[in-house]
Amino acid sequence: MGTKDNQGKAWDSVTRSPEAMKMMAEGLRRSSLEGDMTQSPIVQEVMRNLGPQRTVLDIGAGVGRFAAPLAEAGCRVIALEPSLEMQGYLQRTVDSRQLSDRVRIVHEAWPTKSEYQAEVALAAFVIQFSEDPVQFVRAMEQSASIRCILGVHVDPMFNFASDLWAAFHPNQDPPRMPILADLYPKLLAQGIAANVEIVTEQHGPRLSDKGTAFNILANRLQITDDETSLQRLRIMWQAHGEVWMKPRPMRTAILSWKPDSASK
Ligand SMILES: C[S@@+](CC[C@H](N)C(=O)[O-])C[C@H]1O[C@@H](n2cnc3c(N)ncnc32)[C@H](O)[C@@H]1O
Repeated sequence: MGTKDNQGKAWDSVTRSPEAMKMMAEGLRRSSLEGDMTQSPIVQEVMRNLGPQRTVLDIGAGVGRFAAPLAEAGCRVIALEPSLEMQGYLQRTVDSRQLSDRVRIVHEAWPTKSEYQAEVALAAFVIQFSEDPVQFVRAMEQSASIRCILGVHVDPMFNFASDLWAAFHPNQDPPRMPILADLYPKLLAQGIAANVEIVTEQHGPRLSDKGTAFNILANRLQITDDETSLQRLRIMWQAHGEVWMKPRPMRTAILSWKPDSASK
């Protein structure tokens, strides 16, 4: 059975395949083209908390959804991205928007061995991949002189996959993405009482390619090696695939707090 402690690990193991990364990158890229990202509540929260140097550490920068508009607004951004697949997208964003003088791309996972310093440390939709969220935020506090900002999901993504899980693994809990309800108590237990802003956005797989979507779902359900289960999923997919692929309103939380190190 899944436990709270292995929750992050279990989630991580189903999201790390190159195909899953590609799907995530395509979804993020599309989302970054959907509106004026300078108006995004996360960018606004970073901008409100900048100091005179206008420096930002963007942990798990993805395709540069936040790093790019922040750099265009005059910030100097260290963009940390451990996935090579994702880093290719990030590099293309930086090159096409001519931001290489303001965005430094670093190929490392958080927490890093090297020390990075910035006024604001941002980790948007990344902490759910961490095996140790407390270590993750403590390291953010060490790096940020003014503000730590986390974007986290309030509603789990791919909830339908958790419902489907029981059809294939009736005696096992589904891998579950850590969400606000899991993370906030851990922060509180550390003495971190972060401000919380809840925003609702149209969110979803945003998949243009049904074949990739099916493969990702099969991967998430851990049935890729089982032809009988795959066949069952194909039948379910024919009936429900369209609905599963539709973006839906999802709540996200922006957690923002002054790092402990800033008050010393
Ligand atoms: C859902 S994406 C979010 C990307 C970006 N922050 C955004 O919101 O557009 C998660 C990103 O975190 C990265 N990631 C996962 N674990 C990480 C870690 N330990 N340190 C840094 N980045 C990580 C993944 O490679 C992926 O690019």
